[in-house]
Amino acid sequence: MSRIHNFSAGPAVLPLEALQEAQADLVDYKGSGMSIMEMSHRGKEYDAIHNEAIANVKELMGLSDDYAVLFIQGGASLQFAMLPMNFLGQGQTADYINAGSWGTAAIKQARMIGNVNIAAECHKDIPTRMPELKEMKWTPGAVYSHITTNETIAGTQLKEMPVTGSPLIADMSSDILSCPVDYSKFAMVYAGAQKNLGPSGLALVVIRKDFAAKGNIALPTMLKYQTFIDENSLYNTPPCFGIYMLCLTTRWMKKMTLQKLFKQNRDKAQLIYDAIDSTGFYRGTAKKEFRSDMNITFRLPTEELEEIFIKQASEVGMKQLKGHRMVGGIRASVYNAFPVAGVEALVSFMKDFEKRNG
Ligand SMILES: Cc1ncc(COP(=O)(O)O)c(C=O)c1O
Repeated sequence: MSRIHNFSAGPAVLPLEALQEAQADLVDYKGSGMSIMEMSHRGKEYDAIHNEAIANVKELMGLSDDYAVLFIQGGASLQFAMLPMNFLGQGQTADYINAGSWGTAAIKQARMIGNVNIAAECHKDIPTRMPELKEMKWTPGAVYSHITTNETIAGTQLKEMPVTGSPLIADMSSDILSCPVDYSKFAMVYAGAQKNLGPSGLALVVIRKDFAAKGNIALPTMLKYQTFIDENSLYNTPPCFGIYMLCLTTRWMKKMTLQKLFKQNRDKAQLIYDAIDSTGFYRGTAKKEFRSDMNITFRLPTEELEEIFIKQASEVGMKQLKGHRMVGGIRASVYNAFPVAGVEALVSFMKDFEKRNG
C-alpha cells in the first residue's frame, strides 16, 4: 500500500482506519453476503448504520432532541437553494455575510428566491479576511442570517460567531467538527460531506425542529426539510454508501476525541503558518487573525516558482497543493483526517525549497 500526502480541498483525505474498515467489509458486509451498496435501505443492517451515523453526529455536536440530523443529496450547493426556498418568503428579508466565493454562491441562489440583505461583505478584499463582528449590520426581523464559517478558497475562518437577532444558519462545509463551536446557537448548520465527514454528494444538515416547522409547505416533497425530518432521511433511497462512510468517519472522530482533534488541527496549521512567517520568502494570503486552520493559502515570490514548488512537492508524494483556479498560489488543506506527518513533510519541503530557491 502506498498512500500520498493528500492536500486536496475536497473530496479530501479520509481516516485510513475508516477506509480500511470499508475495504474489509466491502464485498461481504458483516456476514450478510452483500455490500452496503447492494442491500435495501429498509433492512436491518443499513438501518443500524443510518441510526448510528445520526447518533454519532448528535453526540459529537452535543445536540439536544430539539435538533434533527438529516442526510440530503446534492451537496452543500443544493442547500444554498433549499434554505431560501424553505424560509425566505415574499416580502421577507434574509441576511447574508459575503466573505468569499462560497458566500457569493449562497447569495446568488437566495436572490433567485427572495430579498437578500448583505450584512457585511469583504469577499474582494486582499489580503482575504472575514468581516469583524462590528462591521455586521443585521436586519431587524430578518427571517434568518447566513454565514460561511470557513471560506475554503480564501483560506479564512470566522473565529467568533456573531449574535444576529434572527435564526443563525451556517455553511460549515470546510470546518464542521474541526474546532470548538456551540452548535446550540444555530437554527441550522449544513456541510458538504467531502472534507471532514465522508464522500461527496451528501450534505449533513442539522436543523432545529421548531425552526424547520416554520418552513414553506408549498414545495415539492424532496425540497422540504420537514420531509427529511418526518421520514428520518429515508423518504426515498438515501446515498447509503456515503452515509456509511460518514458513520465510520464519525466513529473514528469519537475514538480520537474532539478535544484531541481540535488541538491537533490548531497545531498542524500553526506549524505551516510558522514556516510561512519565518522569512519573507512565503507570503500568507489571509489576514493573520482570520487564517483558517483547515485551508492554508500562500504565495511564493513568482508564479514560476509556485509551479516548480507544486511539481517538486508532487514528485516527493505531496499532492493537490495547487491553489483554487480562481486565485492561484498554494493551498494546503489539512482537515481532521490529514496526518501530522504530512504537515511535517510539507514544512520540511518548504524549508528545503526556500534554501534552494530563496
Ligand atoms: C464552504 C463551502 N461551501 C459549499 C461548497 C460546495 O459544496 P458541494 O460541492 O458539496 O456542493 C464548498 C465546496 O468546496 C465549500 O467549500
